[in-house]
Parts: sequence; C-alpha cells; structure tokens
Amino acid sequence: MTLEQLEALTAETAKPAGLEDLSNNLVFGEGDPDAKLMIVGEGPGEDEDLSGRPFVGRAGQLLDKILESVKLHRDEIYITNIVKYRPPGNRNPNQQEVQASEPLLLEQIKLIRPQIIATLGNVPTQYFLKTTDGITKLHGNWFDWHSVKIYPLYHPAYLLRNPSREKGSPKWQMWEDMKKLKESLDSLGSKEGKLVIDNAQQDALF
Ligand code: URA
Repeated sequence: MTLEQLEALTAETAKPAGLEDLSNNLVFGEGDPDAKLMIVGEGPGEDEDLSGRPFVGRAGQLLDKILESVKLHRDEIYITNIVKYRPPGNRNPNQQEVQASEPLLLEQIKLIRPQIIATLGNVPTQYFLKTTDGITKLHGNWFDWHSVKIYPLYHPAYLLRNPSREKGSPKWQMWEDMKKLKESLDSLGSKEGKLVIDNAQQDALF
C-alpha cells in the first residue's frame, strides 16, 4: 500500500467510531513520502478543513517561516495531524478522537518510516510520550518511541499568541529547538546542506 492508496481508501471509508461528530473533509497529510522528518500537529482548523491540506492557515504560515529559518521546506518533510478531521470550533481533539485516529496515524508512520517525529503542542506530544507533562517542560528534548526519535516543539498557534522574541520567550526557545533539530537532521545525512547558525535569520523570519 502506498500513502496515496491509503489516502484514497480513507477518503472513501466512513469515519471510524468516535470521529462521527467531526467535520467531513479529510486532511490526510502531505509532503515527502520518504521524509526523515515527520511533523505531527493536533488537528485541522478551518482553513485546513476547507482546503484539505494541513497547516495552511495562520499557524501554518508561521510554521513555514520557522522551517525556512533553518533551511527546511515542507516538500522535504511530511506534515500531518493526529486527528484528520476538524474538531468543531477549533477545539483541541479529545482523548476519544485521538484514540480513534491512531490506526491511520500508525499506518502513515509505517509507510513513511521517519527517523524523527516532531510533535507540535500538547496533544501529539502527550499521545506519543504517554505523559500528562506539558509542552513547556518537554519541548526541545529527545525521546525514544519504537526507535523513532520524538522531538516536542511548541505549536505555532501558541507562538502567534506569544509574539515576543526576547531571550527566554517561547519564540526564542523555538529558535533554539529548531537549530538542534536541524543539526540532528544533518547528522542523519539530510538532503539539505548543513545549517550555518546565524541568529539574524530568526529575526528576519519569525
Ligand atoms: N493546527 C494544527 O494543529 N494543525 C493544522 O493542520 C492547522 C492548525
């Protein structure tokens, strides 16, 4: 089975029990099916629901800038969400929805075989790490999940609400975390060139 076949099958199949109340448009995920890095968010928002693509609204635009700041582009990684349908009113997916979405997410991971999964915000982080600790504590640290490295990051929507770039701020911490992520990707032999650490880059970009 390829990712494309899995997407077509998912789009044709009725939603699993537990997801019936969510919006109808499937937001499956997109990017390089061979990616070393997979990014997993929470669930689609309104813009994603309308377009069928993950992270295309304001948070997604900030995510693109964050990736660009360490010379990454979304077509060389794979971006998806834990929950593939929009929760009503942009609320966070609940436990039941996360559990019901699990088989499809695991199937995607099996097909892509990423070496690193960066989790954005509490919902995907707590899912993979089976913890109730929050992202403020966990971000920027490496964890093992079935031999895949899990790397929690702040959710870009949180950074939109906390725009300061002062030392110690969430955005400043995100920049530190992204540099570590890029270094780790480079050490895996990433397709991109090594990052020349340049703090001006963050100022210009996000
Ligand atoms: N927030 C998410 O967690 N995922 C998206 O796709 C968009 C916003």
